[in-house]
Amino acid sequence: MCGIIGYSGSFCAQKILLDGLEQLEYRGYDSAGMALQKSNGELFLRKKAGRVSVLREACEGAPINSVCGIGHTRWATHGGVNDVNAHPHNCGKVTLIHNGIIENYHEITAAFGFAGRLHSETDTEVAACLLDYLYQGDPFEALRQAVDILTGSYAFCILFADQPGRIFCIRNVSPLVAAHNDSGSFVASDLTALIAYGKSYFVVPEETVMTLSPEGISIRDLSGQPVEPEILTVDWNVESARKGGYPHYMIKEINEQPEALQNTVLPRLKDGLPDFTDEGIPDTLFASCDNITVIACGTAMYAGMVGKAVMEQAFKIPVSVHIASEFRYDTPLISSRTLTIVISQSGETIDTLAALRLAKACSSRTLAIVNVKGSAIARESDYVLYTHAGPEIAVASTKAYTVQLAVLYLIACRFSLLRGCFTADQGRKFIAALLSSSGAMEQMIRHDQAIREAVKTVKRSDHAFFIGRGLDYAFSLEGALKLKEISYIHAEAYAAGELKHGTIALIEERTPVVALATQEKIFAKTISNVREVRARGAAVILIVKEGAQVDPDIYDIRIDLPVSQDEFAVFPAAVSLQLLAYYTSDAKGLNVDKPRNLAKSVTVE
Ligand code: G6P
Repeated sequence: MCGIIGYSGSFCAQKILLDGLEQLEYRGYDSAGMALQKSNGELFLRKKAGRVSVLREACEGAPINSVCGIGHTRWATHGGVNDVNAHPHNCGKVTLIHNGIIENYHEITAAFGFAGRLHSETDTEVAACLLDYLYQGDPFEALRQAVDILTGSYAFCILFADQPGRIFCIRNVSPLVAAHNDSGSFVASDLTALIAYGKSYFVVPEETVMTLSPEGISIRDLSGQPVEPEILTVDWNVESARKGGYPHYMIKEINEQPEALQNTVLPRLKDGLPDFTDEGIPDTLFASCDNITVIACGTAMYAGMVGKAVMEQAFKIPVSVHIASEFRYDTPLISSRTLTIVISQSGETIDTLAALRLAKACSSRTLAIVNVKGSAIARESDYVLYTHAGPEIAVASTKAYTVQLAVLYLIACRFSLLRGCFTADQGRKFIAALLSSSGAMEQMIRHDQAIREAVKTVKRSDHAFFIGRGLDYAFSLEGALKLKEISYIHAEAYAAGELKHGTIALIEERTPVVALATQEKIFAKTISNVREVRARGAAVILIVKEGAQVDPDIYDIRIDLPVSQDEFAVFPAAVSLQLLAYYTSDAKGLNVDKPRNLAKSVTVE
């Protein structure tokens, strides 16, 4: 949460920071601000509640000629949404921006007597006061001392009044990436802000002090020794982080799913079967475990629910799925015989990271499914399988979900082969069906008339229900989440057979019920549950496989999925549920890409 960018070079810093903040806005959009420093040290601070566009307007009316500065877009944690709480914060010689939470800011305020100096309600301003207090002309020394005092997670970019042209950075847990090239030196909370300026970058190492200047970037560990970061190459291009003619990132990302699935699956196939040895993942990892624990948050956790259903079915060992924020405070029943799979698009969700650390502490082997290269979760887990979705900018996750599923299906296939649950021939058929899901998603995107029709029913309602059994239930959870997060319609996913134990009391005349009935084995049972809600007046939107025989009296709208195998219905079904949420939000005139109160990466507990 919170987007960070810093630049020191020879070009207009104001422009670079504003453009970067626009790219980072999905990290938080409560306020935006920047500090620009002139070569004589003079500082210009601009910050505004609201979107980056508000800041841009304020800045472009009175541009500042500077080649060094820091910028921030905020997701409020400590203190309300207003100009004063916006970053950067200044105290004496120190001006800084921050992502993370300083947990002991009350104690620091009391211990150093800062109360009278504070203007905002933020933990960040306390850190600025602390650094100003510690600063005696040597930024490295002040930061080294501050690290001993601060507790919590942080990524700071700091300007000192008497160090013009230099930006000092330090991080603990919260992400920072940096790059130096002909245009100068850059630092940002994530890559999307840097890809316009070059292909090489590095993840800023923790417990180091990094200094940016127009000439280059230097890094020292806390004992003063130079540190050489590992240089990585971005495989995203600038266009992949732009809307490319679509009205919203979300619809662009929905459209990118067929290709993202292929990009994720194809490079991992050898002779038509999944093989992870090129990624350093030995088969013994799969062969020697007794159970699997999947941990994640939000959409990634719902991908895990589908993964559980598919994996247990395929290779018959127990798979449990956990919400990371719960798991991290549990006493988990896992051991060295457990494979822990953590799933995260960003690779930086703080609860998922903490849960991963706990799993490792319990001797479990860990495998991460992550989209962002070099992210904390990717680095800390024993093994990593990257999804190749490209940058996902819309706050509501879409393509990250389907590629997470694709990787889970690949794992299911590899496991099944190794455990003798699949022959090579069965494995190849499974993979062929997985690849053909790309075409099924494509068709769903092209033929969305029934979904648009369903929007008319859904958008009028304050409540909606999603029902299904088995796999259908697993992916209805994600459908309900999508609808509520971007259309603000209360949506609940329920196991269809459980509905009559209470929740059916909420079904009234014209309450929308999205019923998923794609699984042959339980088809008739789900259809019975559909009849139950229909009898109570529900407006039923029925999602079934093409060709399914259903009495037309039991639904208002029927959405057909172009798929034949039950376990692959999730791919076109996911697209249909994403489109339902997308068109509903758009029809209500809401901000599809930046729904209220949310942020893309949740780096606070
Ligand atoms: C936030 C996002 C969700 C995402 C969840 C987990 O809540 O809005 O879309 O599913 O975090 O994020 P991760 O990056 O760990 O997948």
